Amino acid sequence: MGNPAKKCSTSRLPVPSGRLLSWLLTCLLLSWLASLAATAETPPSNDKWLEPARSRLLENKEGLPFFPHRANTPNNALLNVADFDDAQVCGACHTEIYRQWRTSMMSQSWEEPIYRALLRHASEATEGRVDNFCTGCHTPIGLTTGQINSTVNRASVEFTAVHNPMPGVDCETCHNINARTGLDNGAYVLSPRANGRPTKFGPRSDAVSPYHDTVYSGLHTRSDFCATCHNVTHPFSTVAVERTYDEWLESPYSFNGQTCQSCHMPGFAGKAAVMGPDRADVASHWFTGANAAVLSYLGQEEAAQRARDQLARAAEISFESMPDHLVPGQEVSVRVKVANVGAGHKLPTGFPEGREVWIDFRVVDGAGHEIYRLGAIKDGATEPDTRNFKVHLGDKDGKELDIEVWNATQILSDNRLLPKGYDVREFTLEVPKDAVGPITLTAELNYWPFPQRLVDYLLGKDKLKVEVTRMGQVERSLPLGTPVQAAKL
Ligand code: HEC
Ligand code: HEC
Ligand code: HEC
Ligand code: HEC
Ligand code: HEC
Repeated sequence: MGNPAKKCSTSRLPVPSGRLLSWLLTCLLLSWLASLAATAETPPSNDKWLEPARSRLLENKEGLPFFPHRANTPNNALLNVADFDDAQVCGACHTEIYRQWRTSMMSQSWEEPIYRALLRHASEATEGRVDNFCTGCHTPIGLTTGQINSTVNRASVEFTAVHNPMPGVDCETCHNINARTGLDNGAYVLSPRANGRPTKFGPRSDAVSPYHDTVYSGLHTRSDFCATCHNVTHPFSTVAVERTYDEWLESPYSFNGQTCQSCHMPGFAGKAAVMGPDRADVASHWFTGANAAVLSYLGQEEAAQRARDQLARAAEISFESMPDHLVPGQEVSVRVKVANVGAGHKLPTGFPEGREVWIDFRVVDGAGHEIYRLGAIKDGATEPDTRNFKVHLGDKDGKELDIEVWNATQILSDNRLLPKGYDVREFTLEVPKDAVGPITLTAELNYWPFPQRLVDYLLGKDKLKVEVTRMGQVERSLPLGTPVQAAKL
């Protein structure tokens, strides 16, 4: 289409002077019309939803049939629902593995209420642009068999349980993955019926099954298998939303051969299938994480307890630089050390809007009066200035986001504990003049998967009481003394 504004080329000078003004006006009018025409052709770009500039792969929609999710299938065709068995079918032979997996968060990743409430908000706020994205990790089979749309994503858990039953991350999801094309955003390749027959990819080269072919897969024995879902990158702004895999990769665990599987799928002596051989180290499928609150809400009390036990093993808390005694009327500083001794990634890791570890520090005198506290829960969140370990996401104006993660364009701060790392936090208080000795100082290390405030917003008040899990505690009693005594000591 010709640009009418070009006709105003200055090469046509000299222009008869009397008509100069009207000529200029005509030019302006024509350029304005031209710019209007241009706007009609390309709708104004909404910079909130910029197409990804990150990689050519992301721009190639044919290479990404489930854009903006990175899942692939053979020939990138939609998969057939009938190609996948329900986990219960696998469970008929893989009894113990099924029993374990059934208690895990991953087995509930489509039905669990927190995900679904946030999914509904995300789907509405982005007019469906993240529908594929979320589901590709939370119900991979649902997405790749074409069962996902905005209506399904915005429906209630009760409704979809009847009308759109779909698995979360189940046996068929993980054991039909035969390759990956990247390390984030669900870059797995899901290939059911490779070779025209049901084929399961797994860690053994000597597994024989009457029900399916088995193929050895080195990928399943490595952390990069988990990376496809445990690294979440914002598909439009490219912010690193979750980075559990990268955190592990840069830790001492990765070069000491301790994988995600070493800690989250430790071996047990027994059978992988009822008619299979006895083995010394069958990969367990508990997938114990940290989410005791949601697990107990879902009725998985034993799994919730495993999460609490794992959290207790993850960290150590201790006092540093403690005085021998306290002086009434004087200020004292207490330093508390927290070390990540058990998590192969940052502590906490994962879901950034929620996961938080913090110190609840309390000082009580001999008469039982609380003389200081920092780290209490107020209005459904840890109180301001709490010494915590958390990542904070922000939008383009630098405003912190607790809910609208789809608006994230930057990481504002991240003070989580590195794997095998530690941090020291300080508390300063004044001992009241009338305090009664001895003074007891207590530092509790706590975890919750999300603040109560977030859950109340997502589910409504009093629907789910968020449990605060105690990861560790340290306590010390100090006598009161005089400054003279203090100087002597
Ligand atoms: C009729 C019984 C039966 C059923 C049903 C069954 N399997 Fe198996 N499967 C076996 C046996 C037996 C083995 C070999 C176990 C061994 O060697 O320890 C096996 C092995 C496996 C392996 C290990 C493969 C490897 O190479 O490491 C995977 C993965 C697997 N099955 C997944 C599944 C999935 C997923 C389902 C459901 C779709 C399923 N199985 C259904 C009997 C069954
Ligand atoms: C050295 C053992 C170890 C390794 C290796 C390890 N983890 Fe963990 N993981 C833990 C412990 C302990 C916890 C509980 C404390 C916490 O939440 O970090 C945990 C928690 C988690 C959680 C739940 C976090 C939350 O708060 O919701 C996820 C998800 C997870 N791990 C995934 C992974 C993945 C994926 C890998 C590999 C990239 C991995 N882990 C490697 C020990 C490990
Ligand atoms: C999140 C992904 C994931 C899910 C879900 C999952 N598995 Fe696995 N499975 C794995 C990985 C990874 C391994 C190999 C672990 C290793 O080698 O350390 C494995 C190993 C196995 C093995 C071989 C165990 C052995 O040591 O001989 C069998 C059999 C198996 N899985 C069956 C199942 C069944 C049945 C289900 C559903 C009830 C299931 N898996 C769900 C990822 C998964
Ligand atoms: C297909 C995607 C996918 C793969 C592959 C995958 N995960 Fe997950 N995983 C998820 C999703 C989604 C959740 C969150 C479920 C929820 O809370 O709604 C999750 C949750 C978890 C949790 C529970 C976290 C908690 O807060 O308690 C652990 C532990 C975990 N995964 C470990 C692993 C390990 C280890 C591997 C590799 C062997 C792996 N996952 C592979 C998608 C995946
Ligand atoms: C690349 C894979 C991936 C994508 C895409 C993804 N998630 Fe997740 N999601 C995970 C994993 C893995 C976890 C578990 C992390 C942890 O336990 O801390 C998780 C955890 C969550 C949780 C916490 C659930 C709970 O009960 O603690 C919510 C809520 C959630 N995701 C919502 C979403 C929404 C909404 C979207 C789309 C905007 C989305 N996720 C996209 C992998 C993904």
